[in-house]
Amino acid sequence: MTAEYNTMRQAEAFLTTRTEQETAHAGYMFGRVIGVPTVIALEGELGAGKTVFVRGAARGLAVDKHITSPTFVLLKIYSGRLPLYHFDFYRLSAPEESPELDFDEYLPGGGAAFVEWPERLPELLPAEKVVIRLERFYDDRGEGRRILLTPHGADASLLVDRFIESITWRTDGTLNMPQAGEA
Ligand SMILES: Nc1ncnc2c1ncn2[C@@H]1O[C@H](COP(=O)(O)OP(=O)(O)OP(=O)(O)O)[C@@H](O)[C@H]1O
Ligand SMILES: [Mg+2]
Repeated sequence: MTAEYNTMRQAEAFLTTRTEQETAHAGYMFGRVIGVPTVIALEGELGAGKTVFVRGAARGLAVDKHITSPTFVLLKIYSGRLPLYHFDFYRLSAPEESPELDFDEYLPGGGAAFVEWPERLPELLPAEKVVIRLERFYDDRGEGRRILLTPHGADASLLVDRFIESITWRTDGTLNMPQAGEA
């Protein structure tokens, strides 16, 4: 895993991962630094790694349940250090189909709301959020994922700052992850 930290723009962060475990670990480190109500829009095609990232973030939020995809139920709620709301808009196409969706209802409770497929109904998302885009790529070392985190708003910027400060890399460019048994 490698990263670039673009200080010219508002604390945007770019990472690449080589394995599912690395993406989950990136999610874990992100979940650990979430401190205030936050909406996280997870963009990317089928199989990009959105659910893998949320699974890691759930561990970072001290959720002790295994996260499964909410594609067919729209929303799954977990309790952790903060409430975790895991949305999947994949099957939605019109706002009328989701009249009960109101982020303002949840977020005063201090929750972290992760939304897969926000592209389906972008107007449902608040202006202040972290957009995380995951993209699959292939090169001579095989398959990987590019992960771009873009904050919108001051709290989101602080969160992305804290995230990028919390992750470290080994000299071979892979993410410095705890060995099995640690953490
Ligand atoms: N570097 C990587 N990071 C994340 N996942 C990876 C990576 N390399 C391979 N994979 C595989 O890609 C798949 C990602 O699946 P995941 O369910 O997280 O995708 P998704 O973006 O949530 O898709 P969907 O839109 O269907 O919900 C898994 O099968 C995982 O093993
Ligand atoms: Mg998914």
